[in-house]
Amino acid sequence: MSDLVLLNPGPACTSPGVREAMLRGDLCHREPEFADLMGRLRTSLARCLGVAGTHETVLITGSGTAAMETAVIGSVRAGRKLLVVDNGVYGARLLSMAEAHGVETVVVEGPWTRPVDPGAIADLLRSDGRIDAVACVHHETTTGLLNPIAEIGAIVRDHEAVFLVDAISSTGIESPDLAEVHADIVCGTANKGLHGVPGVSFLLLSTAKGTGRVAAAPRRSVYLDPAAQLRSQQAGDIPFTPAVQTCYALDEAIAQYEGAGGYEARLRLYRERAAVVRAGFARLDLPVLIEEPYRANSVTALGLPAGITYRALHDELKQRGYVIYAGQGRLSETHFRIATMGEIPMPRLVELEGALEESIRHLTKARGE
Ligand SMILES: Cc1ncc(COP(=O)(O)O)c(C=O)c1O
Repeated sequence: MSDLVLLNPGPACTSPGVREAMLRGDLCHREPEFADLMGRLRTSLARCLGVAGTHETVLITGSGTAAMETAVIGSVRAGRKLLVVDNGVYGARLLSMAEAHGVETVVVEGPWTRPVDPGAIADLLRSDGRIDAVACVHHETTTGLLNPIAEIGAIVRDHEAVFLVDAISSTGIESPDLAEVHADIVCGTANKGLHGVPGVSFLLLSTAKGTGRVAAAPRRSVYLDPAAQLRSQQAGDIPFTPAVQTCYALDEAIAQYEGAGGYEARLRLYRERAAVVRAGFARLDLPVLIEEPYRANSVTALGLPAGITYRALHDELKQRGYVIYAGQGRLSETHFRIATMGEIPMPRLVELEGALEESIRHLTKARGE
């Protein structure tokens, strides 16, 4: 299975160096060597994502969803509300997390194919003084849609509210650069655009507002407590057993990211990949769900060709060396997704068009057309 190209939006393919890093050896997290590793990761994550000096990193053992839930819990003070942008599956997940923890919410709902209107958020912030945080997904991986986080950040900045951004599928690979967004609580993950392995996620907390806010929010969970995690990690400790080997892999993934030119270089690479695969989709008449100006670099949601199911297309492409991904939620019967995240040799992306064409031709012939 080693030369299967994963075109799902995480876990993404990793480099040999990242996989080898997991074999650095057994390590107790109470030893100084782990404190060094954690300290290095906390610094390098903020640095490589453009927020060194303005944000503090909190490492979280758990997938991206653990980071989202820690962020939601830590963003709102008692008796206040969370404004959630819901225009995809991950916005809806933020909302259900708030509900699960008894945090009152205000929802700005939007169609899945359009970015949220920042004006709607500005109006609500002006009219409702109890809104304590605004939560928005940057890249809705559901559809490959980008929300306008820089514009929203500029609005939230003028209020007491904090700005929570789920950047799990955008860190390091989408614009704007986090340095240009006034985000106070950013969720990210080791896998996806950073090319580490799954199992560790993180928060970036702005020292202007984010660190103070997580300290002021009530404690709503024992494991996912951002204030306790921050205090402990600032002192070089970590409260619970971390995913040590995943941290090794992330350490190597960041070294490779920075060694290859950092954010600008990775952004360029992802744009090149998007251009290559989307030119192929256009030649094959596969309709892209999201209009050009709102498209993320790394995920394309495409309409399924007439009469072909996702399962059949998936199986054909897997035989040809590619794992594609289903449409999510209400798009599951009509769309499929192709993600170009992780370590993928460019020639394999160039060859994808041919594999798609052959798969569609084969399935169409099998239906007797
Ligand atoms: C935008 C976004 N948020 C959150 C998550 C959840 O991450 P995980 O599956 O690692 O828990 C994902 C996963 O694809 C995502 O794309």
